[in-house]
Amino acid sequence: MEQQSDYGMKRNIIRYEHTGSTNEDARRLALEGAQEGTVVVADSQSAGKGRRGRNWDSPAGCNLYFTLLLKPDFAPDKASMLTLVMALSVIQALEGQTGSEMDFAVKWPNDIVVNGRKLCGILTEMTLNKNVIESLVIGVGVNVNQKEFPKELADTATSLLLEKNHIHAMFNIPDTTVLLNDILKAFDHNYGLFLEHMDLSSLKEPYEAHLANRNKEVRVLEPSGAYEGIALGINEQGELIVRTPDGNIRRIYAGEVSVRGIYGYV
Ligand code: BTN
Repeated sequence: MEQQSDYGMKRNIIRYEHTGSTNEDARRLALEGAQEGTVVVADSQSAGKGRRGRNWDSPAGCNLYFTLLLKPDFAPDKASMLTLVMALSVIQALEGQTGSEMDFAVKWPNDIVVNGRKLCGILTEMTLNKNVIESLVIGVGVNVNQKEFPKELADTATSLLLEKNHIHAMFNIPDTTVLLNDILKAFDHNYGLFLEHMDLSSLKEPYEAHLANRNKEVRVLEPSGAYEGIALGINEQGELIVRTPDGNIRRIYAGEVSVRGIYGYV
């Protein structure tokens, strides 16, 4: 199905009943010449990929799993910001569907949480050729109608359905196709703003308004060691600003760093 986005990105949606990983599909399609704006969506995945080499539980018939392919001409170090652009877009789409009944927040940089549990994960991956981006894929998994999670996720994961039931909310659970369209629409708008400035200056405010870690104590786990501080917000590059107990300000780049609340996951 081919559609035109707001600022001219051609959207070609490819649907699979079942696949390994939509991120892998999008990457392969990019190599085969697929255009920017190609979206791969699947009803289930057998090898759904999460961050840091983890799996993404992807059962059939209940959730949204998709990957958007971009072929941008900016420098690779800008790419991590797109994860934040997508996180904001997912929240805006979810809010549009559920009204004000649900309190969606983003755990920096890109986990979407409700009631302290993870509802959506985003995995951005790129392939480079001589330091030029060949393809950039943004994979999104939203738990929509999942009723049960594997034991190891049961304490930290949730779905729209479980949260709706938990608070006896009145909204209707959105159809995954409708949700996908709303997310892509919000992303088109936000990506346009990102490209105008080549940073998050237009998106910092709405992103921070949803930032779960804001003014909270966090533990930052860097390859070189761990430290604690208060998360103050983000800067225009999407880095998390943390004030450490000695008053120093640290900027955290969304790479292989993990940020945890000191009393739990958020
Ligand atoms: C995370 O660990 O938080 C990121 C999870 C990303 C999961 C999505 S599901 C659709 C896309 N395809 C994948 O293989 N992974 C992403």
